[in-house]
Amino acid sequence: MNNLNYQEKIPNNVNLSDDLSLQRALEHWQPKFQNWWDSMGPDGFQNSDVYLRTATSVDSEGWASYGKVKMPDYRWGIFLAEKSSEKKIGFGDFKDKPVWKQVPGDFRSILRRLIVTQGDTEPASVEQQRMLGKTCPSLYDLRNLFQVNVEEGRHLWAMVYLLHAYFGRDGREEAEGLLERHSGDIDNPRILQTFNEPINDWVSFIMFTYFTDRDGKFQLKSLAESSFDPLARTCQFMLTEEAHHMQVGETSITRMIDKTLQIMKNNNSDSESQIRSAGAIDLITIQKYINFWFSSSLDLFGSEISTNAATAFANGLKGRPNESQYNDNIELDTFFLMETYENNKMVDKEVSTRNAMNEITRRAYIKDCEIGLKRWNRMIKRSGFDIFLKLPSPRFKRNIGMWSEMYFDTEGNIISKEKYENNKFSWIPSQSDKDFIMSLMVQVTEPGKTASWISSPSRGINNLDINYEYVNIK
Ligand SMILES: [Fe+2]
Ligand SMILES: [Fe+2]
Repeated sequence: MNNLNYQEKIPNNVNLSDDLSLQRALEHWQPKFQNWWDSMGPDGFQNSDVYLRTATSVDSEGWASYGKVKMPDYRWGIFLAEKSSEKKIGFGDFKDKPVWKQVPGDFRSILRRLIVTQGDTEPASVEQQRMLGKTCPSLYDLRNLFQVNVEEGRHLWAMVYLLHAYFGRDGREEAEGLLERHSGDIDNPRILQTFNEPINDWVSFIMFTYFTDRDGKFQLKSLAESSFDPLARTCQFMLTEEAHHMQVGETSITRMIDKTLQIMKNNNSDSESQIRSAGAIDLITIQKYINFWFSSSLDLFGSEISTNAATAFANGLKGRPNESQYNDNIELDTFFLMETYENNKMVDKEVSTRNAMNEITRRAYIKDCEIGLKRWNRMIKRSGFDIFLKLPSPRFKRNIGMWSEMYFDTEGNIISKEKYENNKFSWIPSQSDKDFIMSLMVQVTEPGKTASWISSPSRGINNLDINYEYVNIK
């Protein structure tokens, strides 16, 4: 079970060869995926040898092997965490009943929607990031980008497998749709707005991997609780890969801030123009990118009060991350205190816990985001500067949920639309900030060398030297 079968056309640990019609259906989808990768995946570099890891088992210990691979030859496959025979439903109205091996008829369309929405984000991010190779700050970073990209491709496979295996013809059609929508496409965009935002520069990429891949972690954790066992096991294994994406985000932001602080220390000044003229990024601009990507990622959790979320919880389709840590996994007549806006003022209001599931998960996410901020603020303090980076108020710049109709500053104070418009570029990147960031985006491909705006990594991949040629560009 643990060892993944790489002998077959589609690597898997689900005994695909026992189900010929499913195998055929997926083999029919496979060339379409390859075409999508060729046309919408990383632009260029398809002949380059990239030092990538590939899953070899679904155990948390030693699950990956490393080696140079051309990306189109990456062995994308279908890997689910191990089955446990006695598994019981952990929450909602069916708590303690055995988990489902098949999709219950009543929940078919809502489960399909959950899987399609998750699946849509995976290729979307590859599309968003497709031009970044041309401005990589180092070969090490280039390799990390491609590692994230191939794994998002595998996450697409994971969702497509579920659609094909459990949702019949509808599922097959949805699987086609996942390759037909494209990030930012005016006629046929990706489902969620964050996945239509352009990622033209590496600062956006590293913010995306810190904030948006972390949303992915929380969504996957919620789905890993699902009563539909194949979905739960799929998401459990995806989380192992997701951890690396967030690590790319956290270490890259750390390296970017480290570079900024070196310049600030040398100059004994936090002057924006001095930092910028040394080819680094001032903390105010970094704060603006944090504000943008954090607030955009918060929208991905959905409305604060949501009957859909309540239904998904009640039916055991989507739980809270780490559901077993909650004392009450049914939450039938319980309430959650939430800030709302009524009669022109903020009021604390008791909301049914089931209706508040999106907000509960969002708050857990915010706490997780804080960890990096604390670390970066410690670095700034150690460098002798009295400056703090912080997460903006969760009400700031929201497009979904109860705050989306109003305007707030980053502290969460209500302001007029006019005031918001007049001040927004002190909170989120302006065109001139973006132009400056783009001016720093130069491709560095000499092994061991790194662009001006980010420090070199402190260590290499898989114990290799940082000077190792992680990508042989061809
Ligand atoms: Fe993913
Ligand atoms: Fe990811």
